[in-house]
Amino acid sequence: MIAYAKPFLKWAGGKRQLLDQIERNLPESIKDTKVINSYIEPFLGGGAVFFFLQNNFTVKNSTISDINEDLMITYKVIQKHPNEMISELEKFQKEYCSLKMEDRKEYYYNKLRTPFNELSVTFKSENKTDWIKKASLLIALNRTCFNGLFRQNSKGEFNVPIGKYENPKICDSENILSVHKVLQNTEIECGSYKGALKKISKKSFIYLDPPYRPLSENGFTKYSKEDFNDKDQKELAREVKRLDKAGHSVLLSNSDPKNTNAKDNFFDDLYSEFDVQRISAKRNISSNGNGRGNITELLIKNY
Ligand SMILES: C[S@@+](CC[C@H](N)C(=O)[O-])C[C@H]1O[C@@H](n2cnc3c(N)ncnc32)[C@H](O)[C@@H]1O
Repeated sequence: MIAYAKPFLKWAGGKRQLLDQIERNLPESIKDTKVINSYIEPFLGGGAVFFFLQNNFTVKNSTISDINEDLMITYKVIQKHPNEMISELEKFQKEYCSLKMEDRKEYYYNKLRTPFNELSVTFKSENKTDWIKKASLLIALNRTCFNGLFRQNSKGEFNVPIGKYENPKICDSENILSVHKVLQNTEIECGSYKGALKKISKKSFIYLDPPYRPLSENGFTKYSKEDFNDKDQKELAREVKRLDKAGHSVLLSNSDPKNTNAKDNFFDDLYSEFDVQRISAKRNISSNGNGRGNITELLIKNY
């Protein structure tokens, strides 16, 4: 049986629930041939779409990137040192799960969260152990923290409290090894989407999943120290127009402002020359719970 690689992190804005609709909206040539010659995903997060495509299509070349350094360190460690990482995760799994619920709190803060934040200060990129440690701590925190949410404060510190999972699977070695295989054929970068889009040299299929435009003032769009505001959404739209002129196929997803204000035409205006579809979705992570439930989201494509 083929072991399919799946996202190894729970990530805010993850697209797992939209995969069917995304599949239906792929370019016809990809649906017909099942081949993607060049794939670019510069707002990668947990990579739900990336893994879906890798499992179901022949992806000849792909480049993935995100502005979140800790996230991209983790992808690179799985690409290069999966076994060392699995050993670290097995250790966390054994230690954490053998503790009573009341003792886990101390472990979470003293052995996971504080070391992760301290390592951000002392991290040396030439030190392989630092890479493995950082990546393993990120996965362990993602599995044990509240809501599986990755959130950093303005100083870049991970500040999510402990969660209440009884039996968290901190080490999923089978999936890490499947992800490792997929990443052998993948270029992994870290930085702004603009840099990633500038480097594209051949005709590509590009999936863009930027931070959502919040449905409410408190909506969750802060994944890293950087914000993504309306000015950034407009700048991204200019990039999409440039990619369109250069002959690439572009698919973009975002929140639908019409869920809270029927007169808000922000994205309809911004992408008026493209196909703007409303699809139904369930929103999972919202800072105040108002965004939960059935709402529509946008899929925008230039083909
Ligand atoms: C909606 S999430 C992507 C979720 C992903 N599609 C998934 O399925 O998990 C948006 C991502 O964009 C990243 N991001 C935010 N600003 C960015 C920028 N200027 N350039 C590149 N990535 C950025 C965030 O770190 C976050 O991981």
